[in-house]
Amino acid sequence: MNFILATHNLKKREELARILAPLGVRVLTAEEAGVTLTDVEETGTTFEENAVLKAESGCRESGMPCVADDSGLEVDALGGAPGVYSARYAGAHGNDGKNIDKLLDALRDVPREARGARFVCTVCCAFPDGTRIVTRGVCGGSIAFARSGDGGFGYDPVFLPDDALGQSMASLSDAQKDAISHRRRALEKLAQKLREKGIGNA
Ligand code: IMP
Repeated sequence: MNFILATHNLKKREELARILAPLGVRVLTAEEAGVTLTDVEETGTTFEENAVLKAESGCRESGMPCVADDSGLEVDALGGAPGVYSARYAGAHGNDGKNIDKLLDALRDVPREARGARFVCTVCCAFPDGTRIVTRGVCGGSIAFARSGDGGFGYDPVFLPDDALGQSMASLSDAQKDAISHRRRALEKLAQKLREKGIGNA
């Protein structure tokens, strides 16, 4: 069975393909499927709303089951911000450097024990028959006082996962990050629900 992925991000595609391959599910980008998907504006106020918006639009336009995700960082001391606005926290879309500067500044006077945070990822798979599966994965941790590590992307240099013994997410190898990431956890749950639905060969 072929699924289409509502993202141009090849790293997400690889991760999804790895997790869904054992189910006999092939994940295609829009380009590979030979269709053009409209870039959906992320107008939702929750990760779930945005993932559903993107997956349902991609499913409608392609006629194929479509997978989309939405993710971000929730910081306790900021009441859950930046949340769905993580990519746009410092204004310019996708400027990781400025986003981190703004976050460290906002938490300047917050002590270590109050710097709890989590990465959240919601995945939606929308089917042409109108049904959908929505799953959520969380990676708990805290925000460091300064950057470390040079891997990953986004807030990884200042995120200290609970499972990483004080190392930042950006200091972990891809395989180590994959093993504990919010995205991996949401995708594993999606694979499980697809199995329960009788999709694939597992
Ligand atoms: P999106 O779901 O790809 O739009 O990601 C939203 C934003 O959340 C990204 O631009 C990053 O700032 C942040 N983010 C999501 N996942 C991660 C991650 O695994 N590491 C670091 N930052 C992330």
